[in-house]
Amino acid sequence: KKQDALYKRYEDSKAEVVLTEQQQWEQQQIHKGKLPAKEKSGGKEYDYVLDLDNIDFVLEETMNAEKEQDARQQAIEAIEQKERSIREVRESLPIFKCRDKLLDMIERNQIMIIVGETGSGKTTQITQYLREAGYTRDGKKIGCTQPRRVAAMSVAARVSEEVGTKLGQKVGYAIRFEDCTSERTEIVYMTDGLLLREFMTEPDLGGYSVLMIDESHERTLHTDILLALVKDVARFRPDLKLLIASATMNAEKFSEYFDGAPIFNIPGRTYPIEMHYTKAPEANYLSASVGSVLQIHASQPKGDILDEIEQAQESLSQAMKALGSKVPELIICPIYANLPADLQARIFEPTPEGARKVVLATNIAETSITIDGVVYVIDPGFVKQNSYNPRTGMESLQVVPCSKASVNQRAGRAGRVGPGKCFRLYTKQAFLTELEDSTPPEILRTNLSSVVLTLKCLGIHNLIDFDFMDPPSASALQQSLEHLYALGALNERGDLTKLGRRMAEFPMDPMMAKALLASEQYHCSEEMASICAMLSVSAAVLYRPKDKKVAADRAHANFVRPGGDHITLLTIWEQWVETGCSMQWCYENFVQYRSMCRARDMRDQIIGLMERVEIVPESNPNPNDTVPIRKALTAGFFYNTARLQRSGDSYATIKRRQTVYIHPSSSLHEERPKLVLYYELVLTSREFMRQVVEIEAKWLLEVAPHYYKKQELEGDFKRKMPKTIK
Ligand code: CDP
Ligand code: MG
Repeated sequence: KKQDALYKRYEDSKAEVVLTEQQQWEQQQIHKGKLPAKEKSGGKEYDYVLDLDNIDFVLEETMNAEKEQDARQQAIEAIEQKERSIREVRESLPIFKCRDKLLDMIERNQIMIIVGETGSGKTTQITQYLREAGYTRDGKKIGCTQPRRVAAMSVAARVSEEVGTKLGQKVGYAIRFEDCTSERTEIVYMTDGLLLREFMTEPDLGGYSVLMIDESHERTLHTDILLALVKDVARFRPDLKLLIASATMNAEKFSEYFDGAPIFNIPGRTYPIEMHYTKAPEANYLSASVGSVLQIHASQPKGDILDEIEQAQESLSQAMKALGSKVPELIICPIYANLPADLQARIFEPTPEGARKVVLATNIAETSITIDGVVYVIDPGFVKQNSYNPRTGMESLQVVPCSKASVNQRAGRAGRVGPGKCFRLYTKQAFLTELEDSTPPEILRTNLSSVVLTLKCLGIHNLIDFDFMDPPSASALQQSLEHLYALGALNERGDLTKLGRRMAEFPMDPMMAKALLASEQYHCSEEMASICAMLSVSAAVLYRPKDKKVAADRAHANFVRPGGDHITLLTIWEQWVETGCSMQWCYENFVQYRSMCRARDMRDQIIGLMERVEIVPESNPNPNDTVPIRKALTAGFFYNTARLQRSGDSYATIKRRQTVYIHPSSSLHEERPKLVLYYELVLTSREFMRQVVEIEAKWLLEVAPHYYKKQELEGDFKRKMPKTIK
């Protein structure tokens, strides 16, 4: 009986932990003197053998010799089977055919541009090839950067499985606030933002023998800065290999930037993709996308669906519920940054026979994650993008049309396993005439303050002459310098202040960092950490099902507190914590449990960061008085302030006098206080302020005396330009 149970465990664990089970079994044998230590693993050396020292065993049973032999044989076969299938998959990838040529070229060149279709094996294979070729022998690591946390984590999990060790050992990942590596780690996947921060502690990247900047065609802000920094490091570290990997497009531009570095092309493998367009423009993308999914599910042959509308989840599950058992199962898998690992893994699990999977993602799936089995792609033609207008100094999250390059990339997802179909929720005419060829790099459309702060910390002072691939305009740089000066992070000479150095410890917008630091002085650091965490998920905290709108609104109204949305968010947080982080409570109050859990993780991390800069967690002594909290917020966000205009419904931002409105979801939407501070602007039909609190003019003079003058806050304010610094 016991033996059967043991075999069953081998069976059950085949998928993940077979290796550990095997070790345990072997260890037992060695303990019992049945298996000489040198013969373990049948004389074959596995990576995980090193782990044997870490396991404690209790002898519980003695098996008879014959069964032992069986068990041993079975376990070894299971491992061999798994190794075989991994090997088969690895060898079937397009990149495998050029393995030796690639290694040879890397050997002969310090910098290389590597181009290949999504799914050709760049991200998962190149690091392993390099490791196999001995690039980690001298104790140095192979690093690979990803623009997104999700990708860094999932790819690391996959590669560690291929290598045959537990995640975090030979293969690990490092993302903001989370380090899953060990001393033994040879391959590390990390976000580009994280490597940027590593530059602060290790400016020569001495721990790495190879760095691969992956998905570089996306040209995220962090990627662009990294490119400039690694280009510089490569000059004084001739032993460091640099690989710039890109899905397609613009390889020449990268090559030029890296002084003519050779381009290595991985021959692709794609199947034809049928393109479908709508006959007329769609008024409602959400319903169009849900409709398309259901239509495909009902009428198209087997194959999974990738839908670029993340919000479709609820409508889809409702529609499926309504259809009941009349239709085959549809497995709905949303994917977003911070998705818990077990849910993430679900996306990559093979779809059971008879069912169909639909993966819902916005942007994330565009390039860095390969999901096998996708045959149908639904593309609304939009992307959520952060846009910054240096003229107005405004940043906003906008839904903007994709470029041709990126919608073609999306469509390409359908042709990985066989012929596919792409359903575009826009007309062919719109595709031809309305879409830009490619998206401008993020550095040209973002708020640079956080970057400038980081670069200043790295000791880079002359930003105008810094070797960016696409340099931001001098005026955008000037804006950020002024912003940082106003926040007190830079002095009038443009040098980093002590406050600035502390702010740089927080990997977030300098305004938020400043508010967190200011909370120390106002004795409310606990509250500010909660607010900061809640703000990061604020767009997805409350929900309002169609059939229970009244009940939801009533529940939500109970959270509203005077002062404004930040205080309301704080109340939601505090009530949830009081219930012991209850899921039931969330359900009853129409609060997204998932978002609350994300906020909790985020908050823990913020508290950790606060400890690093020696802020003692402190609670607002009088919870009914929210003035200290709002003052601390003002100390960070005094740039984002607006005053009610005479007309009585719109606001004008104080410095720039841009017309803005309070978002209808805000608790202050009806009240309309005279002076408000907002967290962000979103542009939909109008420029809306989201997450708003009421503030007082005199606080602005208290927290930013060098930025605001008394006259401009009283009566009619005159237009005044911010002080210019050189
Ligand atoms: O980087 P590139 O797009 O060239 O390809 P890749 O990400 O290395 O993917 C190679 C293969 O690994 C694909 O067939 C993926 O399905 C698989 N893979 C996976 O199973 N799980 C992951 N987390 C990532 C990739
Ligand atoms: Mg990749």
